Amino acid sequence: MKHFVSMKGLSEHELMQLMKLASDIEENGIAPFSEQFFVGNLFFEPSTRTKMSFIVAQKRLGIEALDFHAETSSVKKGETIYDTAKTFESIGASLLVVRHPEDDAVQQLASQLSIPVINAGDGAGEHPTQSLLDLYTMFQEFGRFKGLNVAIVGDIKHSRVARSNALALQTLGANVYLSAKSEWQDDTLPFPYINIDDAVKIADVIMLLRVQTERHQEKDYPQEKSYLEKYGLTIEREQKMLAHAIIMHPAPVNRGVEIDDTLVEAKRSRIFKQMKNGVTVRMAVIHHLLQTGGMSHATDYNKRQATVTN
Ligand code: CP
Repeated sequence: MKHFVSMKGLSEHELMQLMKLASDIEENGIAPFSEQFFVGNLFFEPSTRTKMSFIVAQKRLGIEALDFHAETSSVKKGETIYDTAKTFESIGASLLVVRHPEDDAVQQLASQLSIPVINAGDGAGEHPTQSLLDLYTMFQEFGRFKGLNVAIVGDIKHSRVARSNALALQTLGANVYLSAKSEWQDDTLPFPYINIDDAVKIADVIMLLRVQTERHQEKDYPQEKSYLEKYGLTIEREQKMLAHAIIMHPAPVNRGVEIDDTLVEAKRSRIFKQMKNGVTVRMAVIHHLLQTGGMSHATDYNKRQATVTN
């Protein structure tokens, strides 16, 4: 694996190996790299937990994080994502972490660079490290994926998290159910839709999604005050969940919209555990990519500087 841009095409073995590495790091720690590595964090869209957990993961691995703010960068002068990434590659970054508002932008960028790229979320495309931390959180809880009933509930159509998780959970043998109001269903995902009242009765995991108003055309998706009652996790629905079932949400959470405010920190909620796991899982992904794809770039920097890929 050179890049980590999509859950599509990753085998069960590859996913389990990354989770095993994360588990080893959590239990035993890991020695920081002795070589000097620079990593570019290119966020072209807002982020709190993904960006900050990548920075913490990089610092724990002894990596120099090159921060980047699109609004004070040469992007404001019209520089493209490709030329921005090539600049980081040229000045010595050994790996890039990229978030971008356009679907597939990061996956396309990865194909144009010689250094590893991690997709930190691209439009409604994919968010593979969020998915991996979600999988890791589920595996900690249940110790298996085969036969696990996972209901992904909410704004499926605009959610990169839903796409990455549904694909990976299918690979791992879980039963994936989707639940969304009709306008937010995505028929390109080959999983059955059920309503939330049925989902809470059968699911081992209720994974809620944020209502992503920034990706909505307001005229197409008028806000409904009754969204929580109709489609979200209310207290009444939480009481119908299986005794062992857990609540997940990638966050940020719209408290009182897709989930009742008080359930965010309920006993069965793993929302803050997911965030904690995000650091460990991102350490595992970075370590794996730098060992398999990026190590040579630490020492081969001068050679790489002269490379022209197209
Ligand atoms: N879950 C997630 O991607 O959160 P941020 O947008 O804060 O990074």
